Amino acid sequence: MSQVIQYERVGDIAVLASNNPPVNALGYDVRIGLVEGIERAEQDGAKAVLIYGEGRTFFAGADIREFGKPPKEPFLPDVCSRIEASHLIVVSSLHGTALGGGLEIALGSHYRIAVPSARVGLPEVLIGVMPGAGGTQRLPRLIGIDGSLDIITSGRQVGAKEALDLGILDKVAEGTPREIGLAYAQELLDSGAGRRPIRDMDAPAAVDFDALYEAVLKKSRGQLAPAVAVRGIQAACELPFDKGMKRERDLFMELMATDQRQGLIHAFFAERTVGKLPEIDGIAPRDLNALGVIGGGTMGAGIATSALLSGLNVTMLEMTPEAAAAAKGRIQKNLGGALKRGKISQDKYEDLTEKALSLTTSYDDLGDVDLVIEAVFEDMDVKKTVFTQLDAVCKPGAILASNTSYLNVDEIAAVTKRPQDVIGLHFFSPAHVMKLLEVVVADKTAPDVVATGFALGKKMGKVSVRAGVCDGFIGNRILSTYRTCADHMILDGASPYQIDVALEKFGFAMGPYAVADLAGLDIGWAVRKRKRAEGLDPAARDSTYADKICEDGHFGQKTGMGYYDYSAGPKSRVPNPQVIPLIEGDRDAQGISPREFTEDEIVRRYMASMVNEAAKVVGEGIALRPLDVDVTLLYGYGFPRYRGGPMKWADMVGLPELLADIQKWAKDDPYFWQAAPLLEQLVAEGRTFDDLNKEAS
Ligand code: COA
Repeated sequence: MSQVIQYERVGDIAVLASNNPPVNALGYDVRIGLVEGIERAEQDGAKAVLIYGEGRTFFAGADIREFGKPPKEPFLPDVCSRIEASHLIVVSSLHGTALGGGLEIALGSHYRIAVPSARVGLPEVLIGVMPGAGGTQRLPRLIGIDGSLDIITSGRQVGAKEALDLGILDKVAEGTPREIGLAYAQELLDSGAGRRPIRDMDAPAAVDFDALYEAVLKKSRGQLAPAVAVRGIQAACELPFDKGMKRERDLFMELMATDQRQGLIHAFFAERTVGKLPEIDGIAPRDLNALGVIGGGTMGAGIATSALLSGLNVTMLEMTPEAAAAAKGRIQKNLGGALKRGKISQDKYEDLTEKALSLTTSYDDLGDVDLVIEAVFEDMDVKKTVFTQLDAVCKPGAILASNTSYLNVDEIAAVTKRPQDVIGLHFFSPAHVMKLLEVVVADKTAPDVVATGFALGKKMGKVSVRAGVCDGFIGNRILSTYRTCADHMILDGASPYQIDVALEKFGFAMGPYAVADLAGLDIGWAVRKRKRAEGLDPAARDSTYADKICEDGHFGQKTGMGYYDYSAGPKSRVPNPQVIPLIEGDRDAQGISPREFTEDEIVRRYMASMVNEAAKVVGEGIALRPLDVDVTLLYGYGFPRYRGGPMKWADMVGLPELLADIQKWAKDDPYFWQAAPLLEQLVAEGRTFDDLNKEAS
């Protein structure tokens, strides 16, 4: 008998309890245990079977760690069918998250009950596959096409109440899954209810599935799984049950073989690994209740909003009462959005804005905060003044954090008498929306301060990545390189619009020039001025067209004009006719005859520059592992999740090919295309970035 499925008789009911922590994933032992349990129940005279999970959840899905390995019998679809075929009444009792294969087991059962907090769903498309154990065949028979299409193609989790209304669940009751399951099974036996296999229910009438397929494909922006899943639902409507199951399995296996599946599963595990750091293993974070925020602009107000929503008290410091009032207005506006979307109640809104938030213009009011985040102007002297003042007023042990996006945190820490308490916490704008947090660890930052940075990120619902100190840390340093690569392609003959289209087809939410317009062209302008003032390497290529756009007062969306003309609204994106002549002016001045670029070459160069810089970032220890870069780009820079991140993409394209491209382009521009030593080393050793991830875990 399997170790993870415990068998027990309670009167007429055979109880199969799964105990496979942490999430009762349906690995081999669980599958074999379920089949054995059903067989045993049938042989020892039980009249009903109850299936439930011990611990935090019912089965949360197939064991994703088994994906890509040779499958071992019994396969999950057969387990579900075996449960369904039993002559006993089978009840599944759900709690936690009954997802994917978990819900499919429940759908193979004859009745389903859940606790009120349970959630169900078929999230397979989120990891690049589709339900493969009858989900696309049974759910439409149970709840019809519309509900199934929504649940299967979105992968969203459905709360117990909604699942009851939809007909996925038969009953919702308070109690433990064991108690409510036993009571329900007994009730069914007492009432003489019969078996109720979903396979015997009528399938819905077919609709225009080609149109649905196209609509879903368009909505998923390059991701295949949701559209392929539509074909599974189609099979449920057009084929007999067993043939539908076979078709579903074939479609599932097709998706299993894709790069997208590899990319999405890499992303799934990378975001769970990124917070696992040897340096904070077993280290308790410091107490965190009251937060200070210096500066109530867009960034500071976003950070304060996020902190308030995560239950922290916030003291916001501004220079003048007027500025403090404006900061409060911004926070109220942000929280008003949460109120409108039903995320918080009116009472909660009042509490957060009137009680949990206080505003001040005096540093003395920061004496009691546990952690203070500075979000003032990006200027080293200004930051140093702020940190000197914080050092004077903050209590011993308070953490002093800077939200700088590129300045040297060691230099900031050095103006205090407590460099061990200083850290960088780089949020992304708007900070109450964007999920990425770079935790920037300076030379002297204490481990429990690092642990507190990660604890804060977790409290705020962020994905936190550890970064070392360098200009731009992980994300902005890599961004600066691939943006430069795009700028070079423009000088050589590509247009910003062609580049945006090529990268949007690759899967980025927005191309780099549309992003620049959104972020504000003045930001890049300021960085260019700073870098020129510091002195550019004479070998570096430079251009002036972007400065000229700014000199004309065009800063992108906020002024209505940038690379694009937004006079018809922020989404209209008509190319600004002044841009191409400015670019041509630069080409003429530098004696460049423009050449054609294919979309393929644009993507290859852009991605190679990104991966090469990322390899330098990993090689220098700025990012701990390649997966930390992947998570940064996925959560902060709109990188398509189904490609797994730039390092995973590079592994799949092949590092030798990538290096060969870089070496070829270096013949024309040896300054820009300097191959990363780590990339050269991996190619020489025949290894991949993922090998480095594995070695580090
Ligand atoms: N297979 C294998 N391992 C899984 C898993 C699965 N289906 N689901 C979760 N895990 C692992 C996680 O990797 C993590 O492992 P770790 O502690 O070694 O890092 C652990 O279980 C806990 O998961 P975590 O996501 O940290 O917990 P949570 O409470 O935040 O979320 C879930 C729980 C189930 C909602 C979430 O893990 C999830 O969405 N899992 C995937 C569900 C899915 O896609 N199922 C369909 C597969 S076909």
